[in-house]
Amino acid sequence: MASAIANCHSFAITTPLYYVNGLPHIGSAYTTIAADVIARFHRLQGHPVLMITGTDEHGQKIQRTAEARQKSPQDHCDEIAVGFQSLWQQLNIAYDRFSRTTAPRHEAIVREFFQRVWDNGDIYEGHQQGWYCVSCEEFKEERDLLPNQCCPIHTNKPVEWRDEQNYFFRLSKYQPQLEALYAERPDFIQPPTRRNEVLSFVERGLQDFSISRVNVAWGMPTDPDHTLYVWFDALLGYVTALLDPEDEPTLDNAIARWWPINVHLIGKDILRFHAVYWPAMLMSAGLPISGQVFGHGFLTKDGHKMGKSLGNTLDPVDLVSRYGADAVRYYFTKEIEFGRDGDFNETRFINVLNADLANDLGNLLNRTLKMAGRYCQGQVPQVDPNQITADNALKSKGQVLADTVAIAYNALAFHQACEGILGLVRASNKFLDDTAPWTLYKQGQQAETETVLYSVLESVRLAAYLLSPVVPGLANAIYQQLGLEADFNDTTIGQQLPYRDHSQWGYLPPGQPLGNAQPIFQRLELPTAP
Ligand code: MSP
Repeated sequence: MASAIANCHSFAITTPLYYVNGLPHIGSAYTTIAADVIARFHRLQGHPVLMITGTDEHGQKIQRTAEARQKSPQDHCDEIAVGFQSLWQQLNIAYDRFSRTTAPRHEAIVREFFQRVWDNGDIYEGHQQGWYCVSCEEFKEERDLLPNQCCPIHTNKPVEWRDEQNYFFRLSKYQPQLEALYAERPDFIQPPTRRNEVLSFVERGLQDFSISRVNVAWGMPTDPDHTLYVWFDALLGYVTALLDPEDEPTLDNAIARWWPINVHLIGKDILRFHAVYWPAMLMSAGLPISGQVFGHGFLTKDGHKMGKSLGNTLDPVDLVSRYGADAVRYYFTKEIEFGRDGDFNETRFINVLNADLANDLGNLLNRTLKMAGRYCQGQVPQVDPNQITADNALKSKGQVLADTVAIAYNALAFHQACEGILGLVRASNKFLDDTAPWTLYKQGQQAETETVLYSVLESVRLAAYLLSPVVPGLANAIYQQLGLEADFNDTTIGQQLPYRDHSQWGYLPPGQPLGNAQPIFQRLELPTAP
């Protein structure tokens, strides 16, 4: 899995294009944070990066939501799209493109793509009958429904019967090619559990699917009676997003630079669309297939499925307003194994942040800087890192850290990357306690004192650098207090702080003036009951 992502130089990644039926929920925030972390890790290495997010604005679900709000669909979409953009800003998401499926240039791309598929003989008129979940915008098999006639994802929205003439896409024709794709590129669908799900779905035999709707006005018209099925239109939003602002909206222009996209990050509920329908559509249009589809797990709250009707949703805007972007980004990245389901619990959230960021990392920097102020005239100790012996616990750990962390990031094993980095931080706390530089100093052992302080400050620097994709604000504060110029939010970070230098233990320049010691992460408190 690591190779498909690691060996590329330019890197394009997508989040799903989120439905605008409501303001962003924590699930959308989760995927977007993960995409931002990996995009930032590539920028750190100096790779050209394109991170795409956006909104999926057509279809019956959106049409009904707008009607219920007594707004025109477009006004409704414009309003909600701004809500997404503002959350991404609050969460410090450095996306490059925000793709909206109601953008006029998107329609041009969809029309050209549709024509290619049509010319290839893969679209025909047929009759569609079945149970439709409007919330999923997907037909469901009767055997997959719950006793209350709902799909397992939207457990309080009964499916609706449809019986209509539609255009169909010849998915069945692509079964052998899809099977060959999965066999030749075992890392195309990740993690392996999701791959297995797709393989067994495909093995059961693929059926053509309908790509137009009657009685849904809010979509791209295909002829006077039909609009295009929202998923056919939405997936192409990834392609439209590749156009530069001044480009003519043609497929050739769109795929000129960044295609094929390296990774599509999605939640497990929309796996089939990305791992089966999408590659088949691309095959039909004669376009290369994307690099990888990674389906992450679902979040629960206090061990329970979240839902408006259950009254236990977790509002990302509220969370980030109360605790800040770095805290939210860190919790979801470090505490949940990416690919598996994970849970949010506020007490655990607070405990993890206080333990890792306020205590282990924040206090470590704070007390070491204060000692450097007293014992080394507020400068980085005058120690040549090359002269520090290999038995120094921090040097030996620090020298191999970047390699293991890079493997973890490239495999999207974010929790492992964070754990590895925190391992160096915890070792630094232990090292300080074991070597007791305050005693060494009192005993007049200046050289030993300086070696200890250098080793710890350098380890904190390295931890900040490698953790910067997850907590860019915190990394900025640490670099600043170490007297280093840096802006981890700058997209040219890879040129500013070259990875080959800064990812190595021993970079911190001896003698450099240090900044003032200030807490970098305020301890969090549990809100008191009203
Ligand atoms: N519009 C489609 C995607 C089209 S992509 C061309 C869509 N949108 S969505 O807004 O409903 O879902 C967006 C993402 O949120 C999906 O990846 C979904 O898996 C994710 N999540 C929704 N609820 C979630 C949790 N409770 N936990 C984690 N992610 C979840 O589907």
